[in-house]
Order: sequence, then structure tokens, then C-alpha cells
Amino acid sequence: MKRIAVFTSGGDAPGMNACIRSVVRFALSANLEVLGVLRGFKGLIENEFVNLSTKSVGNIVHLGGTMLYTSRCDEFLTEAGQKKAILNLKKHKIDGVVVIGGNGSFNGALVLENAGFKVACIPATIDNDLYYTDYSLGYDTAVNTVTNLVNNIRDTAQSHERPCVIEVMGAFCGDIALTVGASVGAEIILVPEIKIAEKQIVDAMQKCKEMGKNSCLIITNEKTYKATELTRILNKKAGVDARALEIGHIQRGGSPSALDRTLALKFGAKAIELLKNNKSGAVGQKNGEIFAYILKNAIECDKIFDVKTLKEALVCAGSVLSIE
Ligand code: F6P
Repeated sequence: MKRIAVFTSGGDAPGMNACIRSVVRFALSANLEVLGVLRGFKGLIENEFVNLSTKSVGNIVHLGGTMLYTSRCDEFLTEAGQKKAILNLKKHKIDGVVVIGGNGSFNGALVLENAGFKVACIPATIDNDLYYTDYSLGYDTAVNTVTNLVNNIRDTAQSHERPCVIEVMGAFCGDIALTVGASVGAEIILVPEIKIAEKQIVDAMQKCKEMGKNSCLIITNEKTYKATELTRILNKKAGVDARALEIGHIQRGGSPSALDRTLALKFGAKAIELLKNNKSGAVGQKNGEIFAYILKNAIECDKIFDVKTLKEALVCAGSVLSIE
């Protein structure tokens, strides 16, 4: 292994820059040359390669977003796109690739592995939806960002004695909603993994009202209930005067937390260790241990949802919503 490429792909996540820095610096210290690819798989297809040095990744450890840019690339799903990308990697004499991204990016990485490249994948997505790792880069920062925003929302909800329905990202994974909901003491937490009928939510809201809990917080995952729609239903059927807030992309930006920066450091080191030993794999962390997993296996299962924490969070918030 002489020369590697690194890129970020899919939705950006805080900690991607810290991870690029780690990959580049560990690669250089292992005597590997490093090229960066701009805009993920799109840049592979369009031949957007740049040289990376120790200096080019200076002063980025604290920055959100990604200095290499990112994209979601439909063209890489086609055989023609994949051929172009593979040809460009060969043209640049690349033997190993580090892919920093989420589920979709790992699927793309598998195509490169099947084409004969050694590929090290690093989980980076605020959704935290990869089942083989406890943490993906960006998740910790995102939940802290949203938690802080909800603190502000609570002030105004409490002052006006009215409920607020707050919609968070996470795609089909309820981890952001769960951790934010638990951290802010939300009375109702709605996630895609646990089906809760509209009527149950309306009944719970009515009960809260009867109990004098006027400023309830409802955290909903974006694919479970939309905040505007649920607020309309609650106001009509439970007779409250709730407000809807969609947090949106604010939760994907910002300076990475210390945890995300530390994980980025360790994931980068592990990815280079893999490539240096001529191996592929998906890097992760479970029970505090950094490890590498077989890439193909890292994307074959859905994440197991932590129902126990959901139940505990609802009990502790004095919620009337019951989870079977
Ligand atoms: O995958 C990260 C994520 O932020 C999801 O939580 C969300 O559903 C999606 O990306 C939004 O994508 P985009 O930024 O392309 O609108």
C-alpha cells in the first residue's frame, strides 16, 4: 500500500473535518501518500482529486461541515458511474480508500471493495443508524445542539403554558429523538421504531392538560410525525394551543463536541491501521472499544432501538404515554 484516497460522502456531520485531519496525519506518519477526493462519489466520477498534506488539514479540528465537501451521488448507483470512478482511482494509482459517511456511503464503498480496492469506512452521520457501532461521528454534537435549542423552547413554552412539538432529524432511526427527548424530559417521544397511534398521542395530551401539565414537550422524529401536522391535530382534537418547531439543518452544523473529535481521532487511526495492513473494514466503537468490522456485515442489519431508555425517559418525565 503506497497511496490512499479519502473522501466524505452523504449528509455532512460534525467531526468529519477532525476525521479527515486524523486520516491524513496517521497516513503520512505511516508513509502513505494521501489524496483527497472532493464531493464524495461524485468527485470520484468527475476526477476531482487534490493533494493533502499535514498543513492542509491544519486548523480544521474544531470546524463543522467538511473541507472536502460532500454530496449524495445517484450516478454512482449506475454501472457507468462506477466504471468511471474505478478508472479514476486506478489513474491516480490509489490502492486504498477511506470513506467517511453513513449507510449509503458504506454501500458505495462495498462496490469499491468488490472492485479490488482496500476500503476503510468510518461512520459519520448524525442519524447514528449504523447497527454495528454505538456511535457515528456527528451524533453526539447533533443531540447536544438540539438539547440546547430545546432548553430555549422550554423557556417560552413554560411562560405561555402551552405545549411545543419539536421535530428532529434522524431519517428512519429514532436515536436523535430518543436522546434529545430523554435529555430534555419530554413527555412524549415519537420514533419510527415504536408505532404510536395518533389517538394515543391525543389522549396523552388531553391527560397532560387535565393534570395541569400545560407546557408539555413533544419530540418527534421527522419520519414518524411531522411537527406541523401533529400540532394541527393536537390543537383541534386535544384543545391545546401548541406550537410546532422543525429544527432542520441547524442540528447538522456546528463545532464538533469533544466526544466527536476524540472519536474522529481514533476512527482515523484505526482506518489507517487497517489499510497499512492491507485490509478492508468498517471502523466502529462498542462498549468503549474501537474495532473494525467486516464491511459487508456492517450494513446488513437495522439498528436495534433502545426501548428500555425510552420507557425510562417517559416514566421519569411523568408521561402518561404508555409503551408496550
Ligand atoms: O442523513 C442525515 C440527514 O440529516 C437525515 O437526518 C435527514 O433525513 C437527511 O439527512 C436530510 O438530507 P438533506 O440534507 O439532503 O436534506
